[in-house]
Amino acid sequence: MLQSIDWLWLLHPVLAVAVVYPLLGMVLRLGYQARDRRINQTKLPPTVGRDHADLGRWLAAAVVAIVLLALAVVILSGHPLAAFPGGLPRLALVLLVLLGSSLALVLLWRAKSPAYRACFSLLCWAGVITLGLQGEVYRLGDNPFQGAFWQSHFWGGAGLTGLMLFSVAGRPEISRHLRWRRLHVSANLLATLIFLAQAISGTRDLLEIPLNWQKPAIQACDYQRNTCPVSPASAPSP
Ligand code: HEM
Ligand code: HEM
Repeated sequence: MLQSIDWLWLLHPVLAVAVVYPLLGMVLRLGYQARDRRINQTKLPPTVGRDHADLGRWLAAAVVAIVLLALAVVILSGHPLAAFPGGLPRLALVLLVLLGSSLALVLLWRAKSPAYRACFSLLCWAGVITLGLQGEVYRLGDNPFQGAFWQSHFWGGAGLTGLMLFSVAGRPEISRHLRWRRLHVSANLLATLIFLAQAISGTRDLLEIPLNWQKPAIQACDYQRNTCPVSPASAPSP
């Protein structure tokens, strides 16, 4: 049976599947059409470029939102709030960073001048990374020279958030300058690969995270030897 806390953990994957990936499909299609129209003079409506960037902005906002949601759930659901490690000051700080990151996203959306756009995108990204570095967030590996780092759902998410914010921050420049457009396309081809990697590492994590009431049993398993204690009821009779 799923308890309320399990539903909270499910919110992030559900929003990724129902909102982020469908949006990604549309953004990719419109980006391809914008390029096709510009390079091959294909007969496509002149709005494809603008539609791509408009939906791209929603895609970026959706990615930041589901990442902040996942981080909030992971950090705040680990312990009863009354026994939060670090006490009230740390809890207040975590909430402040969550709020600050969300606010930076809203301000980035509205900012016009290049300095403000750069500032708010960096602030928002810094908030995501700060929250990700909290002890409650499981990160597989932190060393880029080891395979575990590249399989980490958190580091993939942090990189992807950065690339999405970079596109939103540079939107006017991408529209105006060929050099920026080239940088944008290369950066976002990488982003597309990371989206694919997130789909794989995210579903893998879903398979590995047990329901709340099953956690004590699963935590008793030996992760090095891939064995779990066998309960007397399920042990094979001699
Ligand atoms: C997976 C993500 C993305 C991919 C693969 C992608 C790809 C592309 C491609 C192929 C183009 C056409 C470039 C050309 O004409 O040579 C383009 C243009 C553009 N993209 Fe993206 N993009 C992505 C996300 C975003 C996001 C998040 C934004 C943020 C607002 C954005 C803003 C723009 C802008 C402003 C243009 C120029 C459109 C124009 O005026 O013609 N893109 N993108
Ligand atoms: C746009 C793609 C995605 C991004 C950027 C992203 C990013 C993140 C981040 C930053 C976290 C918190 C760190 C962690 O606990 O590892 C997280 C948690 C998690 N993600 Fe994703 N993720 C994405 C897609 C998915 C998908 C498609 C699934 C599964 C269907 C998934 C399943 C999970 C699970 C199970 C967690 C643990 C915490 C929770 O459920 O709230 N993610 N994700």
